[in-house]
Amino acid sequence: MERFAPAKLNLTLDVLGKRPDGYHDLKMVMQSITLGDTLTLEPGGEGVRVQTDLHFLPTGPKNLAAAAALRFYETLGRPVPGLEISIRKRIPVCAGMAGGSTDAAAVLRALNEKEGNPFSMEELARVGEGVGSDVPYCVLGGTALAEGRGEMLTPLPPLPRCWVAVCKPDFPVSTPELFARIDGMRVRCRPDTAGLLAALAAGDLPGVARRMYNVFEKVLPERQEVRVAEIKHTLIQCGALGATMSGTGPTAFGLFQRKELAEEACALLSEQNRDTFLAETV
Ligand code: C5P
Repeated sequence: MERFAPAKLNLTLDVLGKRPDGYHDLKMVMQSITLGDTLTLEPGGEGVRVQTDLHFLPTGPKNLAAAAALRFYETLGRPVPGLEISIRKRIPVCAGMAGGSTDAAAVLRALNEKEGNPFSMEELARVGEGVGSDVPYCVLGGTALAEGRGEMLTPLPPLPRCWVAVCKPDFPVSTPELFARIDGMRVRCRPDTAGLLAALAAGDLPGVARRMYNVFEKVLPERQEVRVAEIKHTLIQCGALGATMSGTGPTAFGLFQRKELAEEACALLSEQNRDTFLAETV
């Protein structure tokens, strides 16, 4: 079985507070895009094995794709059959685009289909909860509001189709580290999530784009914050309707109505950032 696993972007990300379980309560508007990984699932071997074209990624249960397969059969109450998962990675790793979570979600959807759809999509999203906080959203995809740890999902009217210039500067970001940093800070600026939801409901793309914001932009170490701000500045200079950072970063992106402008932004950004992509919303 071959499956496409789209990357996600955060149109907004707000951290509401720390929870007793150590996680944080979040409020975020998520969007899938056409940049994504390709997975192939084949029966065979013993247990679940993952291979990818990035040598440093884990091949065993530490890989979220394998963890998802194990969790799927555990929830189903059936022994795990031999399974080989190959992943062609295109989504940058440690980038804030849910690359690992979307691979896990693609595995859950594929196995559910293979086993005759024993779980509804909502149940499948719940199976994914234990694999990672972004997995439930990735199971459903599209435009959605995610709350709680990320598992409370409300589907939203789709973002009007547009072009996206996506750019990851060449340093990785550790999600747990950024969450730890935000605990010691006062968040001064938050996204206008309600305003963005109203703009989405009205199909108002410029209204959505200019309300995009992510609280983690001000949590990155200063040198990294400056790099992300420079990318956002270039995107806006090139005609983006709005630009923000995704997840805990460091990927930044801009939304464009016109393809030529998005292409121009990508050409400029790719001079200094290898991981620059032109995509569309899904
Ligand atoms: O759930 P997941 O393993 O993807 O989360 C990675 C890390 O991100 C957690 O260990 C935690 O530090 C942080 N996190 C959080 N609150 C959330 C989601 C993630 O603190 N809602």
